[in-house]
Amino acid sequence: MTFFSKQKCMITVMAIFILPYANAQQTPNPFPPLENPDRIVLNVTEDPSTSVAITWRTSTAVTKGIVEIMPVSADPADIVKANKHEAVSSPFQHNDISAYYHSIVIKNLMPATKYMYRVGYDKYWSEWFHIKTAGKPGDKISFIYMGDVQVGMKTLWPRVVRQAFGKMPEANAIMYAGDIVNRGDNDDEWGELFYGGSFIHAMIPGIPSPGNHEYSKTKDGNLSALWRPQFTLPENGPATEKLKETVYFTDIQGMRFISLNSNEAEEVPEDLISQKLWLDSVLKHNPNKWTCIIFHHPVYSVSKSRDNPWLRDNFKPLFDKYKVDLILQGHDHAYARGMKKIPYENGPEFSGTMYVISVAGSKMYEENKKDWMDKNGGHTQLYQLITVDGDVLSYKCYTATGALYDSFELIKRKGRRNKLVENEPGVAAIWQNHLTNIKDY
Ligand SMILES: [Fe+2]
Repeated sequence: MTFFSKQKCMITVMAIFILPYANAQQTPNPFPPLENPDRIVLNVTEDPSTSVAITWRTSTAVTKGIVEIMPVSADPADIVKANKHEAVSSPFQHNDISAYYHSIVIKNLMPATKYMYRVGYDKYWSEWFHIKTAGKPGDKISFIYMGDVQVGMKTLWPRVVRQAFGKMPEANAIMYAGDIVNRGDNDDEWGELFYGGSFIHAMIPGIPSPGNHEYSKTKDGNLSALWRPQFTLPENGPATEKLKETVYFTDIQGMRFISLNSNEAEEVPEDLISQKLWLDSVLKHNPNKWTCIIFHHPVYSVSKSRDNPWLRDNFKPLFDKYKVDLILQGHDHAYARGMKKIPYENGPEFSGTMYVISVAGSKMYEENKKDWMDKNGGHTQLYQLITVDGDVLSYKCYTATGALYDSFELIKRKGRRNKLVENEPGVAAIWQNHLTNIKDY
């Protein structure tokens, strides 16, 4: 090879392998932390009737954070009356991101009360957000459920979350069944999620549960370095440090909401056992009428090639024993729900627990009809609006275009499994007028 040929060859190698990498390194961060707060998140606390958890991010130029909060007022002059609370501010370094995260749990609030708050410091402040604290057990509950977002956070998911917010602007919570982003350690993707959800993240208390994509890909993969800094979640889970803020519960108006970490349960036997023991305890000592549990991997799968018997073996007996009402899951990028054909452990009856799998983002897998399903579908972005009023849980699943896709009601019956009412045309109306005439399944 001549000198010139060698040179040409080297240039070609550089063009193929080195230059694109160099260019990638030079790509400016699309979501850089700035002096003004961003990624403002409202999370549930152990008692959302008297407290709120708020987290946000700034550049390293802002090393302190304040929350100003007060009951809502239409008079702008009233904002001088807001109470000031200093947050815990911590430096954050991850790959090429340097930032400050600020977090705080504000306590001693009044139940069922509308508040307004803003976050910031010095001359850098967010806008004022309206929020509402939870009420007392028996008050009507409303919450939003999102299956995997994961892909399309900035493109096709915003239309989904905006519709959910538009239809339920004062939801008590918004639940995420994991795989909220595609690569948990990729700051850009979290930037896209916060772009996509914008102020909704700051107004509806979030209940996020992690999926496998919030973990690095290695066998001993760790939870995303961004998870704990950017959420402030109840630390009432198992004592294990690595399960903190991923396994937790909160009680809202007579419903216990529980997040499990199915990824750790699948990967690490002792993390499965500790969650199982913890779950047994929080279900045993549960004063609430209703219980909803969210985690990523499905107990019954939609996908042809997927199955999670370890979930059925370890957790389903507890769901049956304590008559858990609703299990919300993700992972399979399709839709299915089932109850009528799922057996109760050691019982002659079918399950009183409804199992749901859904998807909110734009990544889709093929759906499959399986025996356990009451309904199934696919290739449709979805969101769920759920209400609980007295003895009736009402579930409505909408498509990204706002069409009603599925709905049912669960009727609480003391000491017995729930009754399922399928909301086929006409059935809901019959239910309203002739409660006792609706046949048991
Ligand atoms: Fe997943």
